[in-house]
Amino acid sequence: MFNQNFILISLLVLFSFRGNAQNLQQVTSLSHNLMPVPSTLRFTAGRLSIAPSFTVAIKGHSDARLQAAIDRAMRRLEARTGLTFARGLSNDTASATLVIQCQGPGKSIPSVDEDETYSLEVSNSQAVLIVPTVIGVLRGLETFLQLLNGDKDGFFIPAVSIQDKPRFPWRGLMIDVSRHWQPMEVLKRNLDAMAAVKLNVLHLHLTEDQGFRIESKKYPELHQMGSDGQYFTQDQMREIIEYARMRGIRVVPEFDMPGHATSWLVSHPELGSQPGPYQIERRWGIFDPVLDPTNEAVYKLLDGFLGEMAALFPDAYIHIGGDENEGKHWNANPKIQAFIQAKGLKDNHGLQAYFNRRVLEILKKNGKKMIGWDEILHPDLPKDIVVQSWRGQQSLAEGAKKGYAGILSNGYYIDLIQPGWQHYLNDPIPENTTLTAEEQKLILGGEATMWSEWVSPDTIDSRIWPRTAAIAERFWSPRDVKDVDDMYRRLAAISVQLDGYGMLHEKTYGAMLRRLAGPLVSDENTVGTIKKFVDIIEPVKGYKRGTMQNATQFTPLTRLADAARPDSARARDFAKTIDAWLYSQDAFNKSRAVDLKNHFTDWQRTGGLIEGEIIKSSPLLTEALPLARDLYEISDIGRDAVEYLSSGVVATDEWKRTNLALLEKAAQPKAAVELVVIQPIRELVIAAAEQEKRKSMTATEWKKTIKEMAAPKKQ
Ligand code: ACM
Repeated sequence: MFNQNFILISLLVLFSFRGNAQNLQQVTSLSHNLMPVPSTLRFTAGRLSIAPSFTVAIKGHSDARLQAAIDRAMRRLEARTGLTFARGLSNDTASATLVIQCQGPGKSIPSVDEDETYSLEVSNSQAVLIVPTVIGVLRGLETFLQLLNGDKDGFFIPAVSIQDKPRFPWRGLMIDVSRHWQPMEVLKRNLDAMAAVKLNVLHLHLTEDQGFRIESKKYPELHQMGSDGQYFTQDQMREIIEYARMRGIRVVPEFDMPGHATSWLVSHPELGSQPGPYQIERRWGIFDPVLDPTNEAVYKLLDGFLGEMAALFPDAYIHIGGDENEGKHWNANPKIQAFIQAKGLKDNHGLQAYFNRRVLEILKKNGKKMIGWDEILHPDLPKDIVVQSWRGQQSLAEGAKKGYAGILSNGYYIDLIQPGWQHYLNDPIPENTTLTAEEQKLILGGEATMWSEWVSPDTIDSRIWPRTAAIAERFWSPRDVKDVDDMYRRLAAISVQLDGYGMLHEKTYGAMLRRLAGPLVSDENTVGTIKKFVDIIEPVKGYKRGTMQNATQFTPLTRLADAARPDSARARDFAKTIDAWLYSQDAFNKSRAVDLKNHFTDWQRTGGLIEGEIIKSSPLLTEALPLARDLYEISDIGRDAVEYLSSGVVATDEWKRTNLALLEKAAQPKAAVELVVIQPIRELVIAAAEQEKRKSMTATEWKKTIKEMAAPKKQ
C-alpha cells in the first residue's frame, strides 16, 4: 500500500511535466531535494547534462582549500554517477561545465563572522558559482551536488537560479567524546556530513566525569589517568581541526568546569573540593566532584592547561561548560563556605561566577573568548561571553535582554530520541519572540547536542543523522521554511546522500539486526522479519532509558534499544496511510481495506515468527518477546477495526473498551523501546465504534472528532 502512494505521486508529476513550461517550473520548484532550503531559489527551463566531459574552471581567487573542495565534489559526483571525469581543473572558463568565480580566501581561521554567501546559476550550457569567499564555494558546491538528478536520458542538474546565505552564523553539532569515546573516524565522517548540510561548528565536549579526552603535554597525568588510554593526541586534534577548516567548519573545544570534572581529579585530587581519592566515573548522571575555586593551585593548573589548549585550538572561543554544579561538595567544605562569606560572594552561584571570572582572565590573556552553558550567566560576568542555552528559549532570551550573545541547544538534544519534526519546529528566535531587533542580533544560532551516554562509535551516526539535517535547515533557512511533510520528503533524500558520503546510520542498522538474529543465523528472511519489527519501534525518549536499564560505560550498546532508531519513517508512513483511509472523502474504501488487512496480517505474522521461531536461535531477542506479543495483538485489533469500518458494522462499546485497554498496555515501553504504530490503531478502533457519526459530519469534522477522542492521555 505504500507503493500506491508512490505511484500516485509519480503520476501527478508525470502529468504535470506534460503540461507547458510554466507547469514544469511549478512542479519542479515544489519538489527540489535541497536541505537546507536556500534563501531564494527559482527554477528556469532547461537542464545541464552531467556527462564524462564534466569539468570545473576557477575564475579569480584560487587556493589549496578551494581546489581540494572541487576535487572532493568531483569525486562525489563521480561516485554518484558512475562517470569518470578528467583529472584536474580546466583552464577554459568558456567551455567548463562549472565555473567558480571567487573573490577571496575567507578568514585564515574559520570564524563566526565569515561570509558564507553564494549564488549559483545553472543553465543548459553551464553552471556558474559566484562567491565572495572560499567558504561560499564550500556551501555552494554542496548545493550543486544536492541538485543532481537523473532520468532515462542520464544525469543532470536542473536549470536554476539560487542566491543563498545563512540565517544564523553559528550552526553547530556538539559531540560528547567523553562519556563514550568517539575516535578520529567518527569525527571525520561527521564533519563530512556536517559540511553537506552547511553546519559550521563542531563543538567537542572533551572532558567529563567519565573521561579526559585530550592530550596535555604540560600535565600528561590528566589524560593518562583520566581516559583509559582513549584520548586525542595533539597531533590528531590538529588533523581534525585542519579537516574541519578545509570544510569551512570551526572546532570549539569544551573543557567542562568546575563540575563534571571527576576525570581531572583522578590525577589531581588536591584540586577537588573534597579530599578524594577519585576514580573515573562509570555511571550516568550528575555527580558531586567539583574543582575548588578557593584553591590557587586550581588556577595555576588551568593557566597552564588552558594556555596549552588555546595554542592548540585556533578558534576564537573556548567553552568552559559550567553546567549542573549542584555544589554539594562546596556545601560540605567549611573552608569553601568561609571563602564565600569573606569575599561577599553570597552563595555557590556567586562562587562559580568568581571562578568563571578567574578563568575568563586566563582565556583573555590567551586571546580567547568564553562560551559556557546557561549557568555561567551572572551579573558579575562581562558582556562579551556567549551563553549556550540548554535550559530553553526563555533562558536564551533573558540573556539577550541583558546584552549577552547566545546560541540555543534546548530543543536540539538529539540524544533524547525525539522525532525530527520537533527539533525542526524549534526556532532560536520564534515568531512570537519578545526580543527587539537589536536583541535578536545577539542570538547567533544553535547547536544540536549529541550526548554520548547511549551511543557507541557504531550507533552514534544513527542518532545524529538524518535528524540533524533538519536542525541544520532550521539554522540556515528562512524562518518560514517549516513545512514538516516537505522536510521529511527532502530528509529522506539527504539521508541517502549522507549514506553515500560514509555515514553509518543506515549501514550499521543491517549489522545490528543481523546480530540480533543470533550467533549462527545468516538467513535473509529471518533478518528481514526482524527488520520489519525493529522498523516500527523506537528507543524510549527523554531520560527514560536510564531508568529502565542499569548501564555503565562498559555496557555494550548492541541491544534492541540500540538497533532501534529515532523517528521511524515506517511509522510515519503508516500513520499517513491510516489517515488517508480514515479521513478522506471516500473514507473506509473497500479495496484499500484489503491492503490494510494484508498489512496487519503481515505484522501479525512478524510478531508470531519472532515469538515462535526466531527466538529459538536468538537469546538477544528475549527482551523483545513482550513486544513481539504486543505486535501480534495490535495487528489483530487493527485488522478487526478495518473490517468493521469497511463492512459498515458498528463495533460495540465493549469491543472498543477492551481493545483500547490492550493498546494502552502495548504502548508502554519495554526493553527501553516502544512500538510507535499504536496511535493510528487507536484511531481505527475508536472510528470503528463511532462510525455512525461520520454520516452527519464533514470529513474535517470527523477527523477532528476522532483525533480528539483518540488523543493520548497527558502523562
Ligand atoms: C547539559 O545538558 N547539562 C548542558
